[in-house]
Amino acid sequence: MSAEPATRRLAVLGQPIAHSRSPAMHNAALAELGMDGEWSYEAIEVGPDRFEQRVRAMPEEGFVGANVTVPHKGSALAVADSLSETAREIGAANTLSFDEGEVHAENTDAGGFLAALPESVSGARALVLGAGGAGRAVVWALVREGAEVGVWNRTALRSQHLCEELGGHPVAEPDPGAYELIVNTTTVGLEGEDPFSELPLRSAAFGSGQTVVDLVYGREPTALVEAAAAAGAAVIDGIEVLVQQGALSFQIWTGREPPLDAMRAAARA
Ligand code: ATR
Repeated sequence: MSAEPATRRLAVLGQPIAHSRSPAMHNAALAELGMDGEWSYEAIEVGPDRFEQRVRAMPEEGFVGANVTVPHKGSALAVADSLSETAREIGAANTLSFDEGEVHAENTDAGGFLAALPESVSGARALVLGAGGAGRAVVWALVREGAEVGVWNRTALRSQHLCEELGGHPVAEPDPGAYELIVNTTTVGLEGEDPFSELPLRSAAFGSGQTVVDLVYGREPTALVEAAAAAGAAVIDGIEVLVQQGALSFQIWTGREPPLDAMRAAARA
């Protein structure tokens, strides 16, 4: 009699984590490919003081990989035994893989962001708002693709440091009408904050030649996404970027082509 194969477990680690769309999205992908008997994906709430201990215990518990989200994307680098070049350069990781007890860290936020864009950004004038972990991944990706990147941050010193490390140039008072691509990587909008009072944006400055990306997502479209769409700009919301980064993580863990439509439908349900 052969033993039942152990379930290959996946998870997302964060705090708070209850709102995460990742379990629904990844379990839908597993079901779509008929893998849900052998694989599962769960949410694990863990705070900063327990993060390293939690990660170290995972290989023994049957985990093959994990996504890492706020506030652990920097700590994920420190815990890892090996890093991808991308994760090292960005200085943050959102994807861990466990192999014989070793922890490998990668960053799929940058690739997921690029995959969500409708067209090449080579030569495009881009404005990135924010200089946290998400901002670093976006600036890294845009600089690498040959965009001309301006970075604004509420705390100017942080955008200066980011640009010294990753490229792009800090801008203190951007003219939002002058950019073909505008990306909000700040947390403004997460709790209903008004983007037009907190960020250097005016709804009147949006227009049909622009693409506006908001990494913030919630149950409703954000005020930024609504205003940009109403002005005729192309709009990419945070769910689409979540789906694309999740798809890249899924491919790393399973080696299978991610079923994007099933993932998108589950993330939006
Ligand atoms: P993450 O890793 O998810 O990017 P983070 O490192 O906490 O998170 O970064 C949050 C970003 O949102 C920062 O750029 C932050 O600006 P500061 O560096 O000045 O703190 C930005 N942010 C948060 N609340 C903001 C607000 N009310 N107005 C403008 N920017 C804000």
